[in-house]
Amino acid sequence: MKKNTKGIILAGGSGTRLYPLTAVASKQLQVVYDKPMIYYPIALLMLSGIKEILIITTPYDMPNFKKLLKDGSQWGIKLEYKIQEEPKGIAQAFIIGKDFIENHQVCLILGDNLFYGKLDFLRNGIANNNGGTIFGYPVNNPKDYGVVEFDSKGNVISIEEKPESPKSNYAIPGAYIFDENACEIAQKIKPGKRGELEITDMQREYLKMNKLNVVTIGRGIAWLDTGTPETMLEASTFIHSIEKRQGRKIACLEEIALNMGYLNENEYQNTLNNLPNCLYKDYCNMVLNEYTKA
Ligand code: G1P
Repeated sequence: MKKNTKGIILAGGSGTRLYPLTAVASKQLQVVYDKPMIYYPIALLMLSGIKEILIITTPYDMPNFKKLLKDGSQWGIKLEYKIQEEPKGIAQAFIIGKDFIENHQVCLILGDNLFYGKLDFLRNGIANNNGGTIFGYPVNNPKDYGVVEFDSKGNVISIEEKPESPKSNYAIPGAYIFDENACEIAQKIKPGKRGELEITDMQREYLKMNKLNVVTIGRGIAWLDTGTPETMLEASTFIHSIEKRQGRKIACLEEIALNMGYLNENEYQNTLNNLPNCLYKDYCNMVLNEYTKA
């Protein structure tokens, strides 16, 4: 991994498609089976070796995110918070995050995107990025996403945001890696049709400079979207099926912190001491028992 890659999780947005759920709590605080949705992107960044993460939320939801996630030290990471006043687009995250990013490479994950499987695609993307790295994932509803088109040699020909007639079935998932120029590039682009700074416009800027790498991922990785009640239920069912079958939790941040060496045994125990008695804590204790025996 490149040294000092920083992470951003964008958890803004109005989440109107999930109303009335989102009338009181943002989409990324909603449940995906047994934990809040935002645990999954945090897990993804932690598993990719990223320990400094900026969470961008709405003014209304920020107190609840802070109550839930605190400063991250309980997981051996560092969490910072910034507000996106209005949902003005994904690319705005780099402008809001300017002081946080400084001159670092940055990996942005959308707070409602859930990945499961072998995460080498992201780790390699982070290690090998030179400009921008994004991913292409085949879906049967490309119209709902940013879409990337390739020529027969695998070169990128076009990138379009939610096209009426998609030129391929490769959607661009909400995991983006950009170099230290991300903020400058985001400041260059203009709002698109829906009045937002589109992440696809930013990708096109990197493409124009010949600095965009698009890596296709597919079989072996699950990329789930949680934009509607139905897709949220599907994500919950998916997580539930695997957790039940294996007896292992997905995105248990305490477990990840221990396995990644972000917390030592004592620190882990301290973190557990602050959890209320619950099934989640029982699981964390089981992890510790295994760890001490190993
Ligand atoms: C956004 C991006 C789109 C991307 C998608 C992934 O869409 O604009 O390019 O493919 O996230 O979830 P939105 O969430 O704004 O509909």
